[in-house]
Amino acid sequence: KKGKNVNGIIMPAGIDVHVHFRDFKESYKETIESGSLSALYGGVCLVVDQPNTNPPIVDEDIYFKRMNIARKSTYIDYSLNLGLVESNVDKIDEILKKIEENHYVPAIGEVFLRGKMSVSYKTLERARKTVDKLITVHAEDPNEEDDVAAEVKAVERCLKIGKFHFCHISTAKALDLIYNSESTSEVTPHHLLYSREIIKFKVNPSLKSNEERVALVRNFHKADILASDHAPHTLEEKREGAPGFPGVETTYPMFFYMAKKGYIRINDLVEKFVVNPAKIFGFNNYGEIEVGNYANFAVFDPHREKPIRARDLHSKVGWTIYEGLMAIFPKEVYIRGEKVLEDGDVLVDKGFGKVI
Ligand code: NCD
Ligand code: ZN
Ligand code: ZN
Repeated sequence: KKGKNVNGIIMPAGIDVHVHFRDFKESYKETIESGSLSALYGGVCLVVDQPNTNPPIVDEDIYFKRMNIARKSTYIDYSLNLGLVESNVDKIDEILKKIEENHYVPAIGEVFLRGKMSVSYKTLERARKTVDKLITVHAEDPNEEDDVAAEVKAVERCLKIGKFHFCHISTAKALDLIYNSESTSEVTPHHLLYSREIIKFKVNPSLKSNEERVALVRNFHKADILASDHAPHTLEEKREGAPGFPGVETTYPMFFYMAKKGYIRINDLVEKFVVNPAKIFGFNNYGEIEVGNYANFAVFDPHREKPIRARDLHSKVGWTIYEGLMAIFPKEVYIRGEKVLEDGDVLVDKGFGKVI
C-alpha cells in the first residue's frame, strides 16, 4: 500500500536438499502436498525428495508416477532423487537416461549401507564407476557397532571409492575428512542443536554426546550444506522406535533467528542453505538473488521472534523436537517472481510449484 514501509530483510528462498515427503502407502505420515506446504511456510522454494518411499523410487515408471503426483500437489518447486538398490545397479545408467528425457535428476541417493534399501560398498563402487551423476550417501558402516566409528569408517571407505555428497554428517571427524577431500558434506539442525542426553526419540545417524555435538558446531564452517532430513513419522511410530524428525519448516526460521542473534553469520546461512545446494545439486537458475535467476526470495522481519509451536506447523505429524525454541518465520515468500505467502496466508493453489 502507498506510504506503507516494508520492514524486513530480503533473503534468497531456501533450498532443502534432503526431505522425505513419503506419499504412496505412507500418505498418513506426509504427502508432497503437506510437506511442500510446510516447506513454503519455512521459506523454502525448492526441495530434493528422497527415494526411500513405499514403494521405493528405483526405476523410471515409479519415478514418473511420483512426479505426476507432485505436479498436481506441490506448492513449491520439487525435484526427486533416484534410488540405488542391488537390483537396479546394472541398469542405473539406462534408467537415468530415460528419466532425464523428461526430468532433471539432482542425484542418485540417498544410498543406504544398512537396513531395508541398503547396498554393499562394492555396489556403490560399481554405481560410482558407471555414472557421472552426483551420488549422495547415508554413511554408516553396516558392521561397526559404535555409532561415531560407524560414520567415520563409512566416510573413509567411500572417499577411497571416489567423490560423493555425504548426507547428515554428525561427527566432527567425518566432517573434517570430507572437508579435506573433493567430496561435499551436509549437516542437519538436529545434530547441531541436540545431543542424545536431551532428545530420546530416535534418528539415523543417532544424536551423539554433547561433547561430539559441540565439536560439530565448532566445525560448522567446514560443512557445505545445511539440510533438514525432514523425516516424518507419527507419534505412535516414534514410540515404537521409527527413526527421524520433521524439520523442513523450522530450519530456515531457526537459523535466521540464530543469525540475528549473532550465533552464526548470515552469509554462512545463505551459502549453506541456498548457494551451495544450488551449485552442488546443479539447479542452474536457483541459488542467488541475481539477474537471470528466478526471483525466489523470502522476507523476514527480524522483530517477529516467536517460539516454535507444533500446532502452528504444517507437517501431517503434528509434533516437533523444536517445541519452544525461538525462530523467525518469513512474513512473505516469492517463488519465480510471484508472491505465494503473506502474513501466514498462502496465495496460490496446490500444483503451483514447478516439477523439475
Ligand atoms: C529417514 C526416514 O525416516 O526416511 N530417517 C532418519 O532417521 N533420518 C531415513 C534417513 O534419512 O536415513
Ligand atoms: Zn539418511
Ligand atoms: Zn534421509
